[in-house]
Amino acid sequence: MAEPLIRSVLVVGGGGFVGSHVVRALLLEPDCDIYVASRTPNNHPDQDGRITYMTADVTDEAQLTALFSTINPQVVIHTASPSPTAPADVLERTNIEGTRNLLKVSAASPETRVFVYTSSDSALVPTQEPISEEQGQLYTAQHYSNPYGKSKGIADALVIAANSPTLRTATLRIPVVYGDYDYKNLLPQLLGSIKRGAHRIQIGSDIKVFEFCHAHKAAEAHVLAAKALLRLDSGSYDGPRPDGQGYFISDGKPQPFFEFMRRCYAAAGVPVGPNEVKVIPLYVMQVVSSCTEWAFTILTLNYKRPTLRRQNIDHLDRGCCWDISKARERLGYRPVHDQDEAIQSMMKWGMENIGV
Ligand SMILES: NC(=O)c1ccc[n+]([C@@H]2O[C@H](COP(=O)([O-])OP(=O)(O)OC[C@H]3O[C@@H](n4cnc5c(N)ncnc54)[C@H](OP(=O)(O)O)[C@@H]3O)[C@@H](O)[C@H]2O)c1
Repeated sequence: MAEPLIRSVLVVGGGGFVGSHVVRALLLEPDCDIYVASRTPNNHPDQDGRITYMTADVTDEAQLTALFSTINPQVVIHTASPSPTAPADVLERTNIEGTRNLLKVSAASPETRVFVYTSSDSALVPTQEPISEEQGQLYTAQHYSNPYGKSKGIADALVIAANSPTLRTATLRIPVVYGDYDYKNLLPQLLGSIKRGAHRIQIGSDIKVFEFCHAHKAAEAHVLAAKALLRLDSGSYDGPRPDGQGYFISDGKPQPFFEFMRRCYAAAGVPVGPNEVKVIPLYVMQVVSSCTEWAFTILTLNYKRPTLRRQNIDHLDRGCCWDISKARERLGYRPVHDQDEAIQSMMKWGMENIGV
């Protein structure tokens, strides 16, 4: 039986960092109509007649219903999310209610067969031993967690629970994503640290390991997941069922956070030798970031928020470690072949397009 093709796909949040990589990966699919939707859909850097930009806010069910009745997407890839440090009510409204809306409208749309959700390492209780998806514990409303992690965990569970014979769903749990076209996440942070001479600083002991994922591979995983679900839908999938599943997607090389950062600095021509590392204890930065947040709250009446956030410091104490064999086996996912080369290409792109 011929491989079913992705005929039309809606990428919600397709103008963002991860979403735009998903769109680039979809452009490799022949004869696939690509729709990108968000509140303010910007023009995608890859101008291509196959991409149509639509305005839609996932918190507005009526707007989503109108969007679906116009485009009738066969596949929905939901990458939209506010920033992890957005206020709790915005995260809840967008990630939980927005995902619920999108699932409801997708399930009601006769053409829509497949729904893939971009989840996160933040959605799960951290681990330091390689765990399978079945061992992983998603955050629920009962957990104590930061609002972002909780909203992502609840949304992930909603997507898995929505799996049905007429709407096949899957969630991709991705960790820190690195790569080109990153205008506001890790890459500008790396370049900014070099510029400020802060690249020698390490917060905490850097013992816990983290997963990382090259943006091109994170994007490819979304396309692979959509195709596996379409194959199941058309009866041509062979093997353990790919639907109603969460998948760990990463480079499969857990390592300490600052060790990874220093590999990026070295790729940019500014290596940091072991004797040059300046360690600031984690608890010091936790106190400083909390004080900064309180000061901003009091002085600006919560109108402005500092860039140094307690949540980001706490994240350095989380870590994660995954077994990615389920994605390999059921989706055909293959992690990046050469992480050094991927890091070098990201830093080169960053220095040429963002600058140090
Ligand atoms: N970057 C990472 O390292 C990383 C790691 C793990 C997981 N993730 C997950 O990957 C996904 C994408 O993250 P990213 O880093 O690419 O974020 P990003 O660059 O900030 O992109 C987020 C996208 O979501 C859209 N969006 C936000 N609120 C929306 C709403 N109410 N309705 C419709 N669209 C909305 C934004 O567009 P508008 O502003 O135009 O609405 C934007 O296109 C998220 O789900 C995130 O949780 C990212």
